[in-house]
This record gives sequence, structure tokens and C-alpha cells, in this order.
Amino acid sequence: MRIGIVGLGYVGLPLAVAFAEAGVEVVGFDVDSRRVAAVSAGDSYIEDVSSERLRGAVGAIDATTQPDALAGVDAVLICVPTPLTANREPELGPLLAAGRTVAGVLREGELVVLESTTYPGTTRERLVPLLEESGLAAGRDFHVAFSPERVDPGRTDYTMRNTPKVVGGLTAACTERAAALYEVICDEIVRVSSPEAAELSKLLENIFRSVNIALVNELAMLTDRMGIDIWEVIDAAATKPYGFMRFDPGPGMGGHCMPVDPFYLSWRAREFDFATEFIELAGKINQQMPYHCVAKIERALNDVAKPVRGSRVAILGVSYKAGVGDTRESPALKIVALLTGLGADVVYHDPHVAELPGSGLRSQPLAAALEGADAAVIVTAHPSVDHDAVVGRVPVVVDLRGVTRSRGRGATDGAGGDRAGGDRAGGAVAGGAETGAGGARPGGVTLL
Ligand SMILES: NC(=O)c1ccc[n+]([C@@H]2O[C@H](COP(=O)([O-])OP(=O)(O)OC[C@H]3O[C@@H](n4cnc5c(N)ncnc54)[C@H](O)[C@@H]3O)[C@@H](O)[C@H]2O)c1
Repeated sequence: MRIGIVGLGYVGLPLAVAFAEAGVEVVGFDVDSRRVAAVSAGDSYIEDVSSERLRGAVGAIDATTQPDALAGVDAVLICVPTPLTANREPELGPLLAAGRTVAGVLREGELVVLESTTYPGTTRERLVPLLEESGLAAGRDFHVAFSPERVDPGRTDYTMRNTPKVVGGLTAACTERAAALYEVICDEIVRVSSPEAAELSKLLENIFRSVNIALVNELAMLTDRMGIDIWEVIDAAATKPYGFMRFDPGPGMGGHCMPVDPFYLSWRAREFDFATEFIELAGKINQQMPYHCVAKIERALNDVAKPVRGSRVAILGVSYKAGVGDTRESPALKIVALLTGLGADVVYHDPHVAELPGSGLRSQPLAAALEGADAAVIVTAHPSVDHDAVVGRVPVVVDLRGVTRSRGRGATDGAGGDRAGGDRAGGAVAGGAETGAGGARPGGVTLL
């Protein structure tokens, strides 16, 4: 079997490697010649695929910028970006361009699968007409399906192999054809009746996360005012063995998916005179979080009699999630911009991000970033950074991820609570005062 993959990014490259490892010949087509050159050289730019693993598979991957190389493959998987325009509407440009590329080489009997996240109706209404410009009829002369990618960058317990794959074809035969393809790399295939059901299932997964994160973020803003520790509340609620699923608050949402995908559905819903209020509300609350976090940083500095202007603030972690180097839509970008706008001298440490786009900043070694800092802000808690060791080394620590909470836990007031004492070593207690959950803890730590 020979397959084509269009778009060798976070989704396409791991897919290419998985198929190559399963003995399938892969043509990897991308418009970015640097990416193509890197794949050919066995140099991975995606953290989930080590260069060593890529080099093991690259013999079976023909990475190319030449669309003609896709001619004659048995199946093509389209994995191109689906961003939003400046007006927050679906930007289908890359997807339509990819569709035209595939149409140019499509032949009878081929399978085309769209993997890019998008609104229900895209496959049937936007992709199929382009493919049919080849003169072939979808569902009759060639097969078409939608199958959403579920990759969670940085995750190792659930992989492509053991994460069920949803497949929805234009016809039952299309579904079966796509299912047979994915069975090569995936243990469980979940068949749905249409591309639309598959498209919406992916959006539901992301909207579910977005709404639940917004819920705890809203509660975090409320508990800040009420003087209640949100982390303790969540820890307690999470002991319920059924009917509750834990979500943690944070500085806001980032990445290619969560801040973008839900709005594909709201846009589509408007065509049906329908307002998706949960989506809009969740987006609004999550977008507020960087502002709330900066207000907390201002207050924490105020507690040690420092204005933001002129203070040196070390940001720890600027990618959108722990363990990865992706800064797309990362709330750290907003936090850095807001602090810089207030006159802070911002530095950052992130072992995964050498340079922060648009800020002119480069990652400093941890010790250098903390040297002389008035405050350290844990925005993204990479597992390789010892955050406990940061506590006590700077006058103020603002922990937006709750990762320093275990320090001293249990020493005084049981699970989750170390507000009334704890054992923070070397704690130059910032501001000193116990100011409720929103205020500084021993060691100068302020939690979200
Ligand atoms: N990153 C994730 O964690 C994730 C998870 C699930 C789903 N998705 C979805 O998968 C899709 C792809 O996301 P990604 O993160 O892999 O994006 P990405 O930006 O990492 O990769 C996309 C690649 O497509 C290439 N490309 C763009 N236009 C092209 C064209 N016309 N022809 C050929 N190549 C083209 C780009 O050069 C890039 O290398 C998106 O719809 C996204 O929402 C992403």
C-alpha cells in the first residue's frame, strides 16, 4: 500500500511515521520546503516524534514539495491547518488548496480522508466539489471520509495505536474503506454514519474541554475575591467517584485547537439562526484569564511594595502546555505583552522554546532568569523544571498552575492547604500577611 499525507505538521508527521513503521509506503507532501528537507534528513521538528524514530521510518517516507508525487497513491490523508481569520471566521484557504492539489492527481478507486478539525459540512460541501473537478464522482469513483485526529501533544499513555479512531464516510463503503486503512495503525475504529457526525464529534470533544476549563476559571476568579482556595475546592470535589470530572484553572487557553475549533461551530451555527452561547461564553471567560493573572501579579508585587513598572519579572514556561514547545495562541504571549506594556522588565525561561515569537525575547537559563527577579510567574509548568526550587529564591512567586502546592502540604492543615504555615524553606515571606486564597502564601507564593 502507498498513501499520501498532505501537511507534515503536528498531525501529519506522526501519522506518516506510524504508517511507515507499519510497512506502508508514504508520500509526505508539504508546501513548506524546510519541513520537507527536515523530514528527508531525519530531523524531527515535532516533539512527539523523536529524530531517532523518524530516522528509523524515513526510508519509507518520500517527503516532497511536488504535488505530482501524490499521483497513484491508494489513499490521501489531508492534515493541513484550519485556523481562524482576523475576524474569527474559518480560514479554509489551506484546506481548499490541499483539496485542489489532491484533485489534480486523483484517480479512480482512491480514498481521500480529511483529518483537519473543521465544522460539520466541510467535507461534503467544500472538499468533495473540489475533488469532483477531477471528473470523478465521490462515493462512486473514489471514496471520501472524515476522520478527526485526536493527538494530544506530549501525551505518552494514549498513542495513535490505543486511541480509538472515529471514521465517517460519505457512503457506507467509504467508511469501510477508511476503517480498513486506519486499522493498520489503530486498534479500535469507531464508525459513524456520516462525515458530519465525525466532524462534530471532534468539535464536541474540544468544546467540552473549553467549557469545563472556563467553568473552573470563572470559579477561580470568584474564589479569588471570596478568599477561598480554588485548588482545595477542586481537590475535594474530585474525590467524588462519579459524576465529576476534574479540570484545573489556568492562565487561559492556547494551542492550535482549543482557542480556535469551537468557533468553527459557532460560525456554522449562525447559518442555522442559532447562537452557541456556551462556546461564546467559554471563549470570553478563557480570554479574560491572562488579564486576571496579570492583575494577580500586580497585587503580589504590590504586597512587597513594588510597582510593576521597573520590576524584573521572570516568566517560567511560555508554551501553551507542559512538556511541549508550541507557543501558538499561548496565554504567555498575552501575559508577556501586558506586563511589558505596564513597564515590567520581562525575562523568561522555557526549556522547550528558545525564542518567543513577536517579543524579541530569548529563553534564559533558569538561574539567570531568576537572578535579580522581583517576581517569578509559573505560566506553564514543564515537568523538567524544579518549581519547588524557585520558591524562596525570588521575593514573589505567582503560581498559575498550582504546582508548588505540595510544598508543606499536610504539615498544617491537611490536603491542599498550606496557607496557614507550611514549611517553605528560605521563605522570604512576601508581604507577610495572610490575605486569603488570593494573597501570598509562605515563601511568597501566590496561587491562581
Ligand atoms: N496539533 C494538534 O494537537 C491537533 C490535534 C488534533 C487535530 N488537529 C488539527 O489538525 C490539523 C492540522 O494541525 P497541525 O497542528 O498538524 O498543523 P501544523 O501547522 O503543525 O501542520 C500543518 C502543515 O500543513 C502544511 N500545509 C499548509 N497548507 C498546505 C497545503 N495546501 N498543502 C500541503 N501542505 C500544507 C503546513 O506547511 C504545515 O507543515 C488542524 O485542523 C488542527 O486543528 C491538530
